[in-house]
Amino acid sequence: MSETSGTNTGSPRLRAELDGVPTYKPGKPAAAGGPVAFKLSSNENPYPPLPGVLESVVAGADTFNRYPDMACTGLMEELAERFGVPVSHLATGTGSVGVAQSLLQATSGPGDEVIYAWRSFEAYPIITQISGATSVQVPLTDGEVHDLDAMAEAITDRTRLIFVCNPNNPTGTAVRRAELERFLDRVPSDVLVVLDEAYKEFVRDPEIPDGIELYRDRPNVAVLRTFSKAYGLAGLRVGFAVAHEPVAAALRKTAVPFGVSQLAQDAAVASLRAEDELLGRVGSLVGERERVRAALVGQGWTVPDTQANFVWLRLGERTADFAAACERHGVVVRPFAGEGVRVTIGEGEANDLFLQAAEAFRKEL
Ligand SMILES: Cc1ncc(COP(=O)(O)O)c(C=O)c1O
Repeated sequence: MSETSGTNTGSPRLRAELDGVPTYKPGKPAAAGGPVAFKLSSNENPYPPLPGVLESVVAGADTFNRYPDMACTGLMEELAERFGVPVSHLATGTGSVGVAQSLLQATSGPGDEVIYAWRSFEAYPIITQISGATSVQVPLTDGEVHDLDAMAEAITDRTRLIFVCNPNNPTGTAVRRAELERFLDRVPSDVLVVLDEAYKEFVRDPEIPDGIELYRDRPNVAVLRTFSKAYGLAGLRVGFAVAHEPVAAALRKTAVPFGVSQLAQDAAVASLRAEDELLGRVGSLVGERERVRAALVGQGWTVPDTQANFVWLRLGERTADFAAACERHGVVVRPFAGEGVRVTIGEGEANDLFLQAAEAFRKEL
């Protein structure tokens, strides 16, 4: 035995797939005490929790010594009723990103391929790489929309999962019913298509389909929804999938046990019951989105049609300068280096500050 036997001299062997996993960059917070007053960098909802949410959370606060209901029974029943789907077709998780990770765990591993548009939600490359599968990124069209024909052509016999982010983060663009159905018809039945509808509630174009309608007669379609955006519960981490068996059952198997806190479950139920207020708030945010987009177009910017709670400006090399200019005006936005800036629709005052920054920047070009 060597002298070092029993002592820990090396590092544990970690999976090679983790090498080079890009780190998730959270939206920068507004600096405390600094000139920046508003955070428009994470597609959060500027409104406080919906009526009834705080009350339900406070009422449950004396049970933190207990584990939550692992089956999320109350929430599942509420969701089943609200969306007209069986409870057995539902699975919850720690945010929809948690459910997305479970979907990968359930379908994909080393040697498999996962297709998604790029640029799209930045968690896709991270969770794909962690699963061990290979990302196949299909560039957006010149109009910043999913290129569904190119995505269909990218399918091979190794493809296990395809993300369609509708509307797309960060561009806000969405694919319409006819083209999405045509695409789904081209996908082999053993490949899972995940319609990520994190921003569904903000959609106003009637031609953009509701994924839950598309999933009904398509066993290889799963829909992801979240309470983080329109419902304003980003901090509580609760999202869900609607999918046929055996996909939903696989999700329940791969989910982190007790991942969704009782607080989050109760808050989600209370939020679902406050639908009138929710619709009013979403309506106001959509109104602000249209105002902001029209003002930007009026200033001379090219802004893709957005169906989400954010706008996208493709700024290329000027991205970092633009983000810095926004900060000087009191708003922190989300730059994607060398590509563009995503700006969340916030409270009216924040949106005005952003528009002032955009106008001043434009004049200096
Ligand atoms: C397209 C998309 N999907 C999923 C998520 C994840 O949201 P959450 O995990 O908070 O439900 C986000 C968040 O930014 C998103 O933009």
